[in-house]
Amino acid sequence: MRCLMLVDEPLKHSCSLLVVGMHENGDQSALVKALDRKLGGALKRLREQHEFMGGLGRTKIMHTFGKLPAERILLVGLGKADELTPERLRQAAGSAMQAIKQAGVRIFSSALHQQPLKSALQCVAEGFLLARHTFFRYKTRKEENGGVEEGTFLVTASALGRSETVAAETRQICEAVCFARDLVAQPGNVATPEFLADRALEIAGKYGIKSRILERREIEAEGMGAFLAVAKGSHQPPYLILLEYRGAGIKKRPVALVGKGVTFDSGGISLKPREGMEKMKNDMGGAAAVMGTFMAAAALRLPVNLVGIIPSAENMPGGGACKPGDVVTSMSGQTIEITNTDAEGRMLLCDGLHLAQRYRPSVIIDVATLTGACVVALGHTASGLMGNDDALKRDLRRAGEATGERLWELPLWDEYDDIIKSDIADMKNAAGPHAGTISAACFLKKFAGSSRWAHLDIAGTAWEERGRPYVPKGATGVGVRLLVEYLRGIK
Ligand code: BES
Ligand code: MN
Ligand code: ZN
Repeated sequence: MRCLMLVDEPLKHSCSLLVVGMHENGDQSALVKALDRKLGGALKRLREQHEFMGGLGRTKIMHTFGKLPAERILLVGLGKADELTPERLRQAAGSAMQAIKQAGVRIFSSALHQQPLKSALQCVAEGFLLARHTFFRYKTRKEENGGVEEGTFLVTASALGRSETVAAETRQICEAVCFARDLVAQPGNVATPEFLADRALEIAGKYGIKSRILERREIEAEGMGAFLAVAKGSHQPPYLILLEYRGAGIKKRPVALVGKGVTFDSGGISLKPREGMEKMKNDMGGAAAVMGTFMAAAALRLPVNLVGIIPSAENMPGGGACKPGDVVTSMSGQTIEITNTDAEGRMLLCDGLHLAQRYRPSVIIDVATLTGACVVALGHTASGLMGNDDALKRDLRRAGEATGERLWELPLWDEYDDIIKSDIADMKNAAGPHAGTISAACFLKKFAGSSRWAHLDIAGTAWEERGRPYVPKGATGVGVRLLVEYLRGIK
């Protein structure tokens, strides 16, 4: 969708559909009052007849019958005036886009961003762009509606320059989110480790990111025994994807991003139950988030240095698969007893975290669809946050609040270390049924060394079951906006 900025006044602007935000209570904006006057009190009557009250996300399309240059008005509820937040505005814009799609409108104009919030334009553009996205690659009959083509944002002359910058940046970020969504949505027979590596090379070439792909031989040479154990049961060879983006001077230590790239998680010999196993194609959501973040960071030329590490493999129960009870040696030299082959994410991440140290990063952040227990604890509303550094966790939480990709912390007290003790090796990869999200993070902590490190468990947030205003059903691309916001805040 093209996003255009235009200096014009909503009530003098000629278009086929104009999007206007309306509050649920209290004083309406000057625009809504003027609009109501032009429409002869129609908005007031809608409210009195309980047809449209301005509840958050409610929409209503009205014809103007020549009473103003806009042919139709799309009213969007913003909820109570004093409760308006960036996230609510994003949601309202998402609902507006759904109404626009449903009405088959291809070109529209917006006054929705004319709200007293600093980030209003960004939020509205995000809501529109993210709600518009669909994944229909495998539908042979393409959608009859080719999609919404163009949105024109009405701005004041003094805001024009700034608005154009904000819109351009927002579109780069949303493209990266949609890139991540598409990767996650791809089925496992297409999105193999090799496919991920190819996409990484592609974006690296396009955005001027340094990249390197290590094959099995080279991964062996690095001694990544934990990572390799995951790939043993599959015919798909593993790949280690390395990305480097330099936006700051050489002296500035990089942020290392480590993403779980399990392109399908059958559980391996500790096979998962059949119900819902098809969802496990999304087990590379962390990898997609890291790749999307690189894409956005490079497109925005963020003044930071980044290292990306994506161990990618398929977890299958083939004849060569690792078995419960096997012991392997990780790259760090620490030995691991594999008590459950379904706890594979931490196996490939631990070698990724160890490798990250080589780059002397200022911080390491890993992103992974790591535990079902995280879905039990937090549902689909927040990602789990754990780590060894309070300032880093605080910055990430703040980015989560700002973007609506919320994080909630779980503790990593020393007492939890006991549950991954092994009788035969330095640790085991899976503990009992309790504190599953924490025990996974305790395991990872042992590979972060003395680095400042945070772990994001996105098992519950990488996939949207029902569809929310600006997150259509399916892959969410979670992590991209969060990490970009975090990186933007780095000094
Ligand atoms: N990829 C799964 C976690 C997952 C579950 C992600 C549900 C998204 C939705 C992970 O590899 C896994 O299987 N974890 C196990 C760990 C257990 C064996 C210790 C789990 O959560 O059951
Ligand atoms: Mn698993
Ligand atoms: Zn997994």
